[in-house]
Formats: sequence, C-alpha cells, structure tokens
Amino acid sequence: MEDILRGINVAPSILSADFSRLGDDVEAVLNAGAHVIHVDVMDGHFVPNITIGPLVCKSLQSLVHSVGALLDVHLMIEHPEDYITQFAEAGADVIVVHQEACTHLHGVLAQIHDAGALAGVSLNPATPVETLAEARYFCDMALIMSVNPGFGGQSFIPTSMEKVARTRAYLPDHVTIEVDGGVTEHNAGALVAAGANWLVAGSSVFGGHDIEGRFAAVAQAAAAGV
Ligand code: DX5
Ligand code: ZN
Repeated sequence: MEDILRGINVAPSILSADFSRLGDDVEAVLNAGAHVIHVDVMDGHFVPNITIGPLVCKSLQSLVHSVGALLDVHLMIEHPEDYITQFAEAGADVIVVHQEACTHLHGVLAQIHDAGALAGVSLNPATPVETLAEARYFCDMALIMSVNPGFGGQSFIPTSMEKVARTRAYLPDHVTIEVDGGVTEHNAGALVAAGANWLVAGSSVFGGHDIEGRFAAVAQAAAAGV
C-alpha cells in the first residue's frame, strides 16, 4: 500500500465507465496496470449530481483487491462522517472528504483512520491551499480539484497547475497529492512535474474505445513528468 501511495499513479474514475459493464471496464484498466480505482460518490446536495454508494464499492472490492490495487473513494457529500464506516466496510482503502463539507475535519479524519482506511482531504478550486494549515498533519492525502466537483468531462482549470506546485511546497513530504478533473495525456506530465503523484482520469480513460490504450497514454505521460 505504501508503494502505491508514494508512487506515480493514474487513477481511472469509474464515473466515466460504462455502468452496464462496470466489472469489465474496471478489469480492463487493472489489466493495463492501474493500481488505484477512483470512485466518485455524489449526493445531490454537496454537488448537483447523484451517483453511487457503498454497494458499488462492495461489488468491486474483490476484483480490485485481488490484484493488489486500491479503492480510492471520493466523497462529494454532505455529512461524510455518517458514511465512513459503510465505505470502509465496503472495501475503501482511501476515503477522501471535502474540507468544505466538514465542520469537524480533524474528527472526520480520525474516524477514517479508526475505520482502517487512509484519509484524504479535498479542496474545491477556490479553496486556498493554506486552509490545510492544520489538516496537513492529520491526513495522508490532499486532493486538489482541478474542476468544480460534480461531473466528469469538464476542462482542466489552468490555475490548478500552479496550485499543485504550491500545495507540494506546503505539505509534509509524506502526504500524497492527488489531482482530479480534466486530466489528460497532455497535462499529466506537467502535473507530476509540479508535484502531484496521483492523477484521476475519467473521460480520458473511459471516454472512448481502447480503454487499455487510453490508460497507457495517460500513464506514460505521467511517468514522463518525473
Ligand atoms: C468530478 C469527479 C472526477 C471526475 C473526473 O467531480 O470528482 O473524479 O470523474 O472526470 P474527468 O477526468 O473526465 O474530468
Ligand atoms: Zn473524483
């Protein structure tokens, strides 16, 4: 788990997968070498969209864990503290909550750790890096949103690149930086060079035929940024 956390990883987001054949799509990216599967949970309140819950995580966990990969669960929901146990029991290895959705962030991060998962904090595009002043000592990962959360297929917000670099300088070395939204083979290398080590990729991986080839293109671009 430590190797994956510290390594450069492209995390395909199943939000852009074909839900009528979800297992096949996830198997395709695992075969292509993915070590992280990103699961976007939306509640229709914190973000306008509604997606999936713990049941889907539970149905994917044995496939993902059978090859030693991790389930990375991104909670774009209000009151995430009410669902930590359910997602941990459904196989989540990393649980990411939005700083903007947590009144008691320290307590929620402790709850995630107590449930046996790694804890991440996500920042919306307009939330300053400096709001992690305390949380940086209590989390394993910071997720920088490079689009407004809620939908796949949006364009990367250009200022996110510089925000990633500032985040890297601001966080302790051991904290993983994940970037989410609009990641493609064209910006993956620069994001890694700026200090990101996990890159979420939804439509750039699942948005067309040849999922394996599309994953490989983003992964190769990310590796070239080291
Ligand atoms: C957006 C989600 C993302 C989304 C990314 O709110 O958090 O994980 O799936 O999709 P792309 O890569 O298409 O921007
Ligand atoms: Zn996400």
